[in-house]
Amino acid sequence: MNLKGRSFLTLKDFTPDEIEYLIDLAAELKAKKKQGITGNSLKGKNIALIFEKPSTRTRCAFAVACNDEGGYHEYLGKKEIQLGGKESVEDTARVLGRMFDGIEYRGFSHKNVELLAKYSGVPVWNGLTDEYHPTQILADFLTLKEHFGYLKGLNFVFVGDGRNNMANSLMIGCGKMGLNCTIIAPKALWPNEDVVDVSRSYAQASGAVITVTEDMAAVKDADCIYTDVWCSMGEEDKAAERVALLRPYQVNAGVMKASGKDTTVFMHCLPAVKGNEVTEDVFEADYSIVFDEAENRMHTIKAVMVATLGD
Ligand code: CP
Ligand code: NVA
Repeated sequence: MNLKGRSFLTLKDFTPDEIEYLIDLAAELKAKKKQGITGNSLKGKNIALIFEKPSTRTRCAFAVACNDEGGYHEYLGKKEIQLGGKESVEDTARVLGRMFDGIEYRGFSHKNVELLAKYSGVPVWNGLTDEYHPTQILADFLTLKEHFGYLKGLNFVFVGDGRNNMANSLMIGCGKMGLNCTIIAPKALWPNEDVVDVSRSYAQASGAVITVTEDMAAVKDADCIYTDVWCSMGEEDKAAERVALLRPYQVNAGVMKASGKDTTVFMHCLPAVKGNEVTEDVFEADYSIVFDEAENRMHTIKAVMVATLGD
């Protein structure tokens, strides 16, 4: 599989085989690291990490993965560079592309990550935009594959803000990889029709079913119940409104039990607001695999960089 030179902006741009390749490469790199073996696939490569929004996992995953593979990274925070303020994104992209071999971008506008990819001439990796968070899905799917042994046919249920970057990317990823995906959210927070439609088109090919509903009873038969914060970064002013809308959608022990299976796992991309989208007892339960997910951010991001830029 040759992904050299490709950007990683959304899972829409990758075939199921390519996604599976990245997940399996991550598993391989993870196994090697556990044996104390790291590589030098990024030796001599300089990597820019642009962060307009804060981050713990994504930032550290890129930094550690880059270091493990012998590369150099430079963190460029929101107030530290001229991105989209004094200088257009197109111009910044062309400057960074002359100096760096790869660019990670986390920010608000998905358009910006597309412009960076278009104008920099080097691979650009989406570390989260308002619309998508594709590297998170690779980590989530690696975690599910480690836990269940397979992905296709799993019943994946997302509960909460059905129109945020996580719901969008999970739906697309499930459609591509053949996981049945149910989004449970109040109607006001249902995903955009175009994301549902495109996910259904992938699901048709993979044999998965994509469902959007208001009904919490749809957690029945879930293999995984997933949630995310009720207010994504940049939406802090909506806190009161979201709590009112989403209180009935909290993932608690009763919701986990309502899957009817004793094998259902709990997942969350983190950071979590305990007491809102998930209760403390669910977060801390044995069936919660959130810290495997967090660790897998690093192995999967390493796989993306190695596959698209590494030697
Ligand atoms: N899950 C995730 O992207 O976490 P950070 O915001 O800490 O990067
Ligand atoms: N939906 C969340 C995901 C954080 C990883 C946000 O955008 O803040």
